[in-house]
Amino acid sequence: MSEIRIPVSDVKPGTAVRLDVTAGGVCLVRIEDSFYAIGDRCSHANVSLSEGQIDPDERWIECWKHGSAFSLEDGQPQSLPAVAPVPVYEVVVEGDEVVVRY
Ligand code: FES
Repeated sequence: MSEIRIPVSDVKPGTAVRLDVTAGGVCLVRIEDSFYAIGDRCSHANVSLSEGQIDPDERWIECWKHGSAFSLEDGQPQSLPAVAPVPVYEVVVEGDEVVVRY
Protein backbone atom coordinates (compact mmCIF):
# COMPACT_ATOMS: atom_id res chain seq x y z
CA MET A 1 0.00 0.00 0.00
CA SER A 2 1.19 3.50 -0.82
CA GLU A 3 0.32 6.76 0.84
CA ILE A 4 0.42 10.45 0.16
CA ARG A 5 0.65 13.19 2.77
CA ILE A 6 -0.52 16.70 2.20
CA PRO A 7 -0.95 19.63 4.59
CA VAL A 8 -4.43 19.84 6.08
CA SER A 9 -4.42 23.53 5.24
CA ASP A 10 -4.15 22.68 1.52
CA VAL A 11 -7.74 21.39 1.53
CA LYS A 12 -10.24 24.06 2.49
CA PRO A 13 -13.43 22.97 4.26
CA GLY A 14 -16.21 22.27 1.79
CA THR A 15 -13.87 21.56 -1.11
CA ALA A 16 -12.50 18.59 -3.01
CA VAL A 17 -9.09 18.11 -4.58
CA ARG A 18 -7.88 15.55 -7.09
CA LEU A 19 -4.77 13.59 -6.20
CA ASP A 20 -3.09 12.05 -9.24
CA VAL A 21 -1.72 9.01 -7.44
CA THR A 22 -3.70 6.22 -9.11
CA ALA A 23 -4.83 5.59 -12.67
CA GLY A 24 -8.22 7.16 -12.01
CA GLY A 25 -7.02 9.58 -9.36
CA VAL A 26 -8.28 10.07 -5.83
CA CYS A 27 -10.94 12.59 -4.86
CA LEU A 28 -10.10 13.98 -1.43
CA VAL A 29 -12.99 15.82 0.20
CA ARG A 30 -13.05 17.92 3.33
CA ILE A 31 -16.28 18.60 5.19
CA GLU A 32 -15.49 20.77 8.21
CA ASP A 33 -12.70 18.76 9.87
CA SER A 34 -13.63 15.38 8.36
CA PHE A 35 -11.82 13.99 5.32
CA TYR A 36 -12.99 11.41 2.78
CA ALA A 37 -11.13 9.81 -0.10
CA ILE A 38 -12.85 8.03 -2.97
CA GLY A 39 -11.96 7.22 -6.54
CA ASP A 40 -12.03 10.39 -8.61
CA ARG A 41 -13.29 8.83 -11.82
CA CYS A 42 -17.06 8.57 -11.99
CA SER A 43 -18.12 4.97 -12.55
CA HIS A 44 -20.49 6.08 -15.32
CA ALA A 45 -17.97 7.83 -17.56
CA ASN A 46 -14.55 9.39 -17.42
CA VAL A 47 -15.45 12.47 -15.39
CA SER A 48 -13.61 13.86 -12.38
CA LEU A 49 -15.78 13.70 -9.25
CA SER A 50 -13.60 16.28 -7.51
CA GLU A 51 -15.13 18.84 -9.90
CA GLY A 52 -18.60 17.96 -8.60
CA GLN A 53 -20.87 19.41 -5.96
CA ILE A 54 -20.41 18.33 -2.33
CA ASP A 55 -23.47 17.68 -0.19
CA PRO A 56 -22.15 18.13 3.37
CA ASP A 57 -25.34 16.90 5.03
CA GLU A 58 -25.65 13.64 3.10
CA ARG A 59 -21.86 13.18 2.79
CA TRP A 60 -22.18 12.80 -0.98
CA ILE A 61 -20.45 14.26 -3.98
CA GLU A 62 -22.45 14.72 -7.15
CA CYS A 63 -20.97 14.12 -10.58
CA TRP A 64 -21.38 17.30 -12.64
CA LYS A 65 -21.92 15.44 -15.91
CA HIS A 66 -25.17 13.50 -15.34
CA GLY A 67 -25.87 14.03 -11.66
CA SER A 68 -25.12 10.72 -9.97
CA ALA A 69 -24.26 11.31 -6.34
CA PHE A 70 -21.70 9.07 -4.65
CA SER A 71 -21.43 8.38 -0.95
CA LEU A 72 -18.16 9.65 0.46
CA GLU A 73 -18.39 6.96 3.12
CA ASP A 74 -18.82 3.82 1.03
CA GLY A 75 -18.48 4.94 -2.61
CA GLN A 76 -21.96 3.72 -3.56
CA PRO A 77 -23.95 5.67 -6.14
CA GLN A 78 -27.09 7.17 -4.65
CA SER A 79 -28.79 7.96 -7.93
CA LEU A 80 -28.75 6.96 -11.59
CA PRO A 81 -27.27 6.78 -14.14
CA ALA A 82 -24.22 5.40 -12.32
CA VAL A 83 -24.81 1.93 -10.87
CA ALA A 84 -21.31 0.84 -9.83
CA PRO A 85 -19.47 2.10 -6.76
CA VAL A 86 -16.17 3.95 -6.82
CA PRO A 87 -13.26 2.86 -4.63
CA VAL A 88 -12.96 4.15 -1.08
CA TYR A 89 -9.55 4.85 0.40
CA GLU A 90 -8.31 5.08 3.95
CA VAL A 91 -7.73 8.63 5.07
CA VAL A 92 -6.49 9.84 8.46
CA VAL A 93 -5.24 13.07 9.91
CA GLU A 94 -1.85 12.93 11.59
CA GLY A 95 -0.89 16.25 13.14
CA ASP A 96 -1.14 18.89 10.45
CA GLU A 97 -1.11 16.39 7.60
CA VAL A 98 -3.84 14.40 5.96
CA VAL A 99 -2.70 10.92 4.94
CA VAL A 100 -4.39 9.00 2.14
CA ARG A 101 -3.54 5.32 1.69
CA TYR A 102 -4.22 3.71 -1.65
S1 FES B 1 -20.36 10.74 -15.99
FE1 FES B 1 -20.86 10.80 -13.88
S2 FES B 1 -22.99 10.37 -13.86
FE2 FES B 1 -22.47 10.25 -15.95
